[in-house]
Amino acid sequence: MTTRYRVEYALKSHRRDQLGLLAVPFVLRSQPTAVYQEHSLMLAAVAADTHQRYAEILRDVERLINDHIAHQKAGTADKSKLKQLVPTVGPFFTPLMLEDAFKYQDQRRYISRRRFVAPSFNDVRLTLNTAQLMGLVRGNKIRLVTFDGDVTLYNDGCCLTEENPVIHRILRLLRQGKKVGIVTAAGYTDATKYYGRLKGLLESVSQDDRLTQDQKNGLIVMGGESNFLFQFDQFSPSLLTYVKRNEWLLDDMKLWREEDIEELLNVAEASLRECLTNLTLPAAVLRKARAVGIYPLDGQKMHREQLEETVLVVQNTVARSDVGKRLPFCAFNGGNDVFVDIGDKSWGVRACQSYFGGIERSTTLHVGDQFLSAGANDFKARLACTTAWIASPLETVQLLDELIELENDWARKTI
Ligand code: IMP
Ligand code: MG
Repeated sequence: MTTRYRVEYALKSHRRDQLGLLAVPFVLRSQPTAVYQEHSLMLAAVAADTHQRYAEILRDVERLINDHIAHQKAGTADKSKLKQLVPTVGPFFTPLMLEDAFKYQDQRRYISRRRFVAPSFNDVRLTLNTAQLMGLVRGNKIRLVTFDGDVTLYNDGCCLTEENPVIHRILRLLRQGKKVGIVTAAGYTDATKYYGRLKGLLESVSQDDRLTQDQKNGLIVMGGESNFLFQFDQFSPSLLTYVKRNEWLLDDMKLWREEDIEELLNVAEASLRECLTNLTLPAAVLRKARAVGIYPLDGQKMHREQLEETVLVVQNTVARSDVGKRLPFCAFNGGNDVFVDIGDKSWGVRACQSYFGGIERSTTLHVGDQFLSAGANDFKARLACTTAWIASPLETVQLLDELIELENDWARKTI
């Protein structure tokens, strides 16, 4: 859920990319209309004017981003106007068609018809998603889509079962020749565990005789954010095969030493245990090969402040340790648990790109829900590719439908 409170809370200093600062012009330009003007012709005129104003704001931001991209290419990203306005802004891999995206979303959400409610956080989030899809569709085209698991493909803690409407959209991506990666923090060494969680999708891929073997093999699962890789395998009982690390590790990952991994997890575990005591959390510790976390005791729930405090304490403790400076890690709030993983989704997505022969960042899209809570593990993917930020599995389905609609529109226009 992305409430205003949650947004303001999470935009505090521990956030990195403060593009949200650019929301200010909306407030300056929004004008609640006085009651005496409530004549339908007048309302239509006000709406048209508001539409125009909002579209102009988005055109301005679109130009700022284009200017920033030009600076990126020239190696002077630090000097762009956008960087001066938003010092924490991240890299852009494609232009964002913000003006067109606003017009598209305004036709669906009637943003400019509202007089009292200014464009909301969700309006802007969905407009950015559309702008990103348009940037991809009109640019180099998408070759790889990576999806987060919990909240993105299925509800938190649930499984991808056969009736899930996202399945036939993913089959469509594969049929188009796109590669698909599920890049999830859920970390298991055993393929049958992933089969249990992704059964609906894996069985559908297996039974779809419109997919070639090559297209089926375009489905992979990256577990533990960047730690365990599995590829679709028609002939395995779990429909997945474990891919040995030496077949997919990036060069930099080969430098991660086992002793360091152990040591980092020890530091993280000690810090988690301290939080358990200090905050009297109703939780237990779970230590895994490449992760350590806390999960709630039976029937208990931790509240958000407890989860976020724990993430920030562990994040700071590990970052200040010697090993935390040598090894990347990701501490995050999973909704009702806190986990620290070795590596993060930027490594996970990069490894998927490399496994498929070097897919570019500008042709990869990561879809996820965690961009705001402490640690926000999907946010890390921003470093490796373009991203879409969804708030529920239903929004993922809508995003994939929007993608096909935009692809078809663009194909018609460019014939
Ligand atoms: P995601 O949304 O697909 O990235 O999954 C995140 C959730 O996976 C966490 O909130 C945990 O509940 C669960 N999980 C299971 N094993 C692990 C692990 O090894 N590391 C991190 N999260 C894990
Ligand atoms: Mg998630």
